[in-house]
Amino acid sequence: MPITYDASARRFHLTDGKTFSRVLAVIDEPGGNPGLQELYLGAALPEAAVSCAPQGFPPSASFDGYHQLAPYAYPTAGRGDFRPTACAVRESDGTCGPVLAYAGHTIYPGKPLLPGLPAVYIEAEAEATTLELTLRDAKTGLEAVLCYTVLEAFHALACSVRFHNSGTQALVLEKALSCAMNLTGEWELMHLYGAWSRERQPERTAIPHATFTLRSNRGASGHEHNPFLALLAPTADERQGEVWGVSLVWSGSFLMEVNKDVRDHVRLVAGLDPCHWRLLPGEDFHTPETVLVRSDAGLNGMSQRFHALYRRRLCRGPWRDRIRPLLVNNWEATYFDFNEEKLLSIAGKAAELGLELFVLDDGWFGKRNNDNCSLGDWTVNTDKLPGGLEGFAEKLHALGLRFGLWLEPEMISPDSELYRAHPDWCLHAPGRYRTQQRNQLILDMSRPEIQDYLIDTISGLLGSGAIDYIKWDMNRNFDEAGSAALAPEDMKSLHVRYMLGLYRVLETLTARFPDVLFESCSGGGGRFDPGMLAYMPQTWTSDDTDGVERVGIQWGTSTVYPVSAISAHVSAVPNHQVGRVTTMKFRGDVALGGNMGYELNLATQTPEDLAVIRQQVDTVKRFRSLIQQGRFTRLRDPFTSRIAAWQFAAEDQAEILLCVFQLHASPNPEDIYIRVEDIDDQALYMDDAGVTYAGGVLKHQGWRACFGENGHREDHDSLVLHLRRV
Ligand code: DGJ
Repeated sequence: MPITYDASARRFHLTDGKTFSRVLAVIDEPGGNPGLQELYLGAALPEAAVSCAPQGFPPSASFDGYHQLAPYAYPTAGRGDFRPTACAVRESDGTCGPVLAYAGHTIYPGKPLLPGLPAVYIEAEAEATTLELTLRDAKTGLEAVLCYTVLEAFHALACSVRFHNSGTQALVLEKALSCAMNLTGEWELMHLYGAWSRERQPERTAIPHATFTLRSNRGASGHEHNPFLALLAPTADERQGEVWGVSLVWSGSFLMEVNKDVRDHVRLVAGLDPCHWRLLPGEDFHTPETVLVRSDAGLNGMSQRFHALYRRRLCRGPWRDRIRPLLVNNWEATYFDFNEEKLLSIAGKAAELGLELFVLDDGWFGKRNNDNCSLGDWTVNTDKLPGGLEGFAEKLHALGLRFGLWLEPEMISPDSELYRAHPDWCLHAPGRYRTQQRNQLILDMSRPEIQDYLIDTISGLLGSGAIDYIKWDMNRNFDEAGSAALAPEDMKSLHVRYMLGLYRVLETLTARFPDVLFESCSGGGGRFDPGMLAYMPQTWTSDDTDGVERVGIQWGTSTVYPVSAISAHVSAVPNHQVGRVTTMKFRGDVALGGNMGYELNLATQTPEDLAVIRQQVDTVKRFRSLIQQGRFTRLRDPFTSRIAAWQFAAEDQAEILLCVFQLHASPNPEDIYIRVEDIDDQALYMDDAGVTYAGGVLKHQGWRACFGENGHREDHDSLVLHLRRV
């Protein structure tokens, strides 16, 4: 059983039977409060071991600084626990609590839905077991139901909290995070930081005797920090060692805190933030969920757990398992300067080359010939597309291409008909200047009438059936985060209400139009998070399309997100972001590591480059099911080596695709052997040229990456080796 309760010891054991165990216990604290504490978090334990844990912890109830040291399963403010807490509740008398006491529990097969929130799900009750632990604050009547679901086959633990105000006073959930973890021993931490066009760069650091804070207060998860954190044993690396991965299924502002106390105990708390949710008597509030995985096989082991879970039990709808179309997007080819003729010249070439989808990016609506205007006016500019969207779609369909459309629904330009009609529909603070970013303001998604307006407008666009794909962009973050519709006492919860409103819109539209492929985007990868993935199975990874930069960005992104979520396009050279010139082959081989597309003017490419593109189209079609649905492993780190490598392997190891990138050349170079992972070391494999390799040699000695006749003399070179078990 994944979750058991020992009534005599008052202990809960949560385990997937293979990778982790978590032991929680009801313990009488000073004053007699039966609190919930975490006695063990680590490798899987046999059931018999549970009654033995722990050794010497928690401190004895007579210890003076008890609350400073106790390993609370859900630590709260206002009781002398000076480490980061998961929960702070302001009472009507102005004081802060709560003190939570065990009040009961249930264990049941399955996993509950989180109303209004994205979450991992199950397809059969037998896939999961859930423990709901009710904690109660005697003074206020606040209940916190800690909800832990073990997803056994996916080796994951999902944690969330449902608050219920069973008292008589209004309470304010100032802080209401999803989970806490208490660990002993030596740990380092790793997270993904970044910026526009430089997203998800891995950074690893020691945990100080202080609090490390990872936060977004931008109203979106953001380019700067991903809602993910790993705790690693100091000796762990990509291939081996103990790693915990913590990933928050939420797309808005968030907080993760890691603290090492004076006794070297490590606590982590994670969840949405700021919260400030006013909870009236009788009301409920659900936190988003945090997903925990543990691996003894290093960072790759952790990533593969997230990939499997998020690809198969977070992404939804028919596109979850469908092979993604090979597309061309006109953004870098034309920016705002296009007409139908120009677009059709690109589309015609795309069809001839065997591409499958044409995506019309920004600039097709209102008066939008630059980024100064028209967001909100989602009516087609007939100067550019005389036959409207339907007419243009018909021409694409006649070429054998599907039609994709860019939208930025959450935004409003001050120069737009929508703004002139509804100047109070944007986020703003009365009496204050409305700060623009990219000349635009943000629609107040907390307001139901604005959510309805967006649902109706987008349903109107999709209703004709002409549109097969939507790129849902979002190009700025919060400044004056105020709402014309919220009471002053609810204003601080706007960050949460915005995201819940957006989720309602996304839930409605994706359920109404299941065959439309939605791709999320936020100035590139500014909202690449599990929350968006629950609605849209792929994300535009970064506005940086340079091949060399992309190796690092896609490498970092793969720390949490499956390849089927990572969109990757081949763009023109000199590259528009960094000016670098790389070969078409190199750019294509990098983009092969995601949902591949082109973002350049196909109609003006040289015959040589067109010949390479033709080959790439064949390669993508041949390997994309392996790439999108196989197991991905990072092999050689682009941040520490001039040669990077990754691979894709079929579940049964019968087929492997190895991709090696020379980021820059070196004179008289070392011999590089790439050790292939996830390969049958007892089998023989054959490449496409008919050369046979021993799986064991590839695994233990490696494949010698030899870059051409000239040795390693060319920058930006790449090798792709396809192996089949014979
Ligand atoms: C930002 C996106 O990341 C780009 O791909 C493009 O769609 C532009 N917005 C259009 O304004």
